[in-house]
Amino acid sequence: MIDPAIADRIRQLREEIRRHDEHYYREARPLIADADYDALKRELAELEAAHPELASPDSPTATVGDDRTPGFETYRHREPMQSLDNTYSEAELRAFDARLRKLLGAEVLDYVVEPKVDGVAVSLTYERGRFVRAVTRGNGVEGDDISANARLIPTLPMTLAGTGHPEVVEIRGEIFMTIEEFRRINREREEAGLDGFANPRNLAAGTVKLLDPREAARRRLDIVLYGLGFVSEPLIRRHHELHERLAAWGLPTLERFWTVQGIDAAWAAIAELDGMRDAFAYATDGAVVKLDDLELQREAGSTARAPRWAIAYKFAAERAETLLRDITIQVGRTGVLTPVAELAPVQLAGTTVSRATLHNADEIARKDVRIGDTVIVEKAGEIIPAVVGVNLEKRPPQSVPYRFPTQCPECGTEAIRLPGEVAWRCPNLGCPAQVRRRIEHFASKACLDIEGLGTAMVDTLVDKGWVRSIPDIFTLRREDLLTLGRNVEKSTDNLLAAIERAKRAELWRFIHGLGIPGVGAAAAKDLARRFGSLEALANASVEELEAIPGIGAKTALGIRAFFNEPENQILLSRLQDLGVQPTPPPAAGEGEDNNGAVAGKTFVLTGTLPHLKRDEARAKIEVAGGKVTGSVSRKTDYVVAGDEAGSKLTKAQQLGVPVIDEAQLLEMLGESLA
Ligand code: IVH
Repeated sequence: MIDPAIADRIRQLREEIRRHDEHYYREARPLIADADYDALKRELAELEAAHPELASPDSPTATVGDDRTPGFETYRHREPMQSLDNTYSEAELRAFDARLRKLLGAEVLDYVVEPKVDGVAVSLTYERGRFVRAVTRGNGVEGDDISANARLIPTLPMTLAGTGHPEVVEIRGEIFMTIEEFRRINREREEAGLDGFANPRNLAAGTVKLLDPREAARRRLDIVLYGLGFVSEPLIRRHHELHERLAAWGLPTLERFWTVQGIDAAWAAIAELDGMRDAFAYATDGAVVKLDDLELQREAGSTARAPRWAIAYKFAAERAETLLRDITIQVGRTGVLTPVAELAPVQLAGTTVSRATLHNADEIARKDVRIGDTVIVEKAGEIIPAVVGVNLEKRPPQSVPYRFPTQCPECGTEAIRLPGEVAWRCPNLGCPAQVRRRIEHFASKACLDIEGLGTAMVDTLVDKGWVRSIPDIFTLRREDLLTLGRNVEKSTDNLLAAIERAKRAELWRFIHGLGIPGVGAAAAKDLARRFGSLEALANASVEELEAIPGIGAKTALGIRAFFNEPENQILLSRLQDLGVQPTPPPAAGEGEDNNGAVAGKTFVLTGTLPHLKRDEARAKIEVAGGKVTGSVSRKTDYVVAGDEAGSKLTKAQQLGVPVIDEAQLLEMLGESLA
């Protein structure tokens, strides 16, 4: 008899997991914490195991998800890319070993224990030692060809070192992003008024799927390799030999792995890994235990989703329980209202945590988080701690469900929700919180860099009503500022001098400081180079904007909309009246149509390009305002590598200089081969 309540719950779980898979794999923007997702998956797996009659071949527990997205060529893996089954306890891990020993009729099995890298799975194909392509897992059978972005990874060799390269080999691994790079990019995005990424994995997943080579070249990805797919000739007999082979070929390999006998030793290795993984360049969310002997691997075989000869053991994310004292709402520069958990301070993963994100109104409602609750806070791969649940046993009897404010807590304006967005926003551009954030941004180091105009000063100026919008900064009066305290003559004069200097700051700093949605420092530089003045930029058409590599359709529309806003037109003309004259960037090269992507950049050419002769490539770059030099240094912006690229390519990889191919160069030049 099928229990309808269980069948219902299974259906519900499958639906919910599919929805999260869509966000996780295709958009790289999860709606929930990894731990919450894992809990849903576990519940489903347990129900399916207890009710085999309700199993289904397309249940999310039986498939590997699907990351394929429009805009990419798909490629069929020669050998499918599988996933791994997860375990969460020592007992489950021992059960895996017991199953395998029974299946293979062995007393003790040799295992390799490896870190489980929390990145984006990739399959690289090398033919006779040359890189041919990089493909995502996709649905396991066929994935997206992301070769163009993989070529930009400085540590990935296009030609293998050493000898003994098979005719064809698929090498499997993980693309990841370091924490520092993750922080750098999120900082830039925040400055541009864009949502940050939740963790390095999501950012790496978003980056491998960028269609814009300029943007991709700005983000540094890394890679580590640990497995084999198809090989045209036998290469190794034991899995651990692979790591030595990969290293000899000059490929980036795992920082540590353990070859052990039996599950006790495997468990000890996992403990050792847990103690050292914080020092790794990549985030590790567990260990992978693999049978070492390839012959035995073949004998054990696989299910549709995962091999029987390997298993993942997931480390528990660090969690703590604490009191949720209050929920406050932060108003961002663009008006987004973000709920923040104000916690009784608690120790978590070596730091004291007193605030955590609650993501958005939907998440608070879904978890039914209430002020006064004892909540569970987690810091997993995520950098920002998150509230992942409530300890209901400790809920005070008088507690009430949290009501997300319908009004901006700063200015009282009715909050709105834009179609397709989870976030609530304050639509009032004059909202003091937004004004403060906009002024702070304008004056910050990354923009006008006005010394003396930090958070506290901005708060004062906005509270006094002296500054309501950016141009007001340039109307501040000495006599007013002198009323702010005793002995403030010197600091006042310094501030006024810094403001005066800012009037002639570089154009890109102004563009960045305006806070146009989607325009960070890098895009601001491109716009400054292309248009040369605020007026020219304000008059640019969407087509002209979109023609700049690195400016996508959405950003182009955002820029146009910004300058169409009458309020912003008044802002610009006031700036002009107040004597603000940004310094345009130095002219790069000759000619009207300098391509923003190439102008001012230094290139090094190496190897034989498929179509262009060296001189042709040089001429094209120079006409577009770029420079070509003979040797690679830290000052080189791009190395264009063709066939037989040699030491210059190696140097570029060592220095972390982006490496592009001919097609990417042509794209940057706004040309194509067609
Ligand atoms: S082996 C057929 N080894 O974790 C076995 N996978 O959750 C394929 N992963 O699909 C995987 N580190 O993308 C293997 N040392 C490691 C790994 C690893 C991370 C990823 C891989 C896999 C996923 C399963």
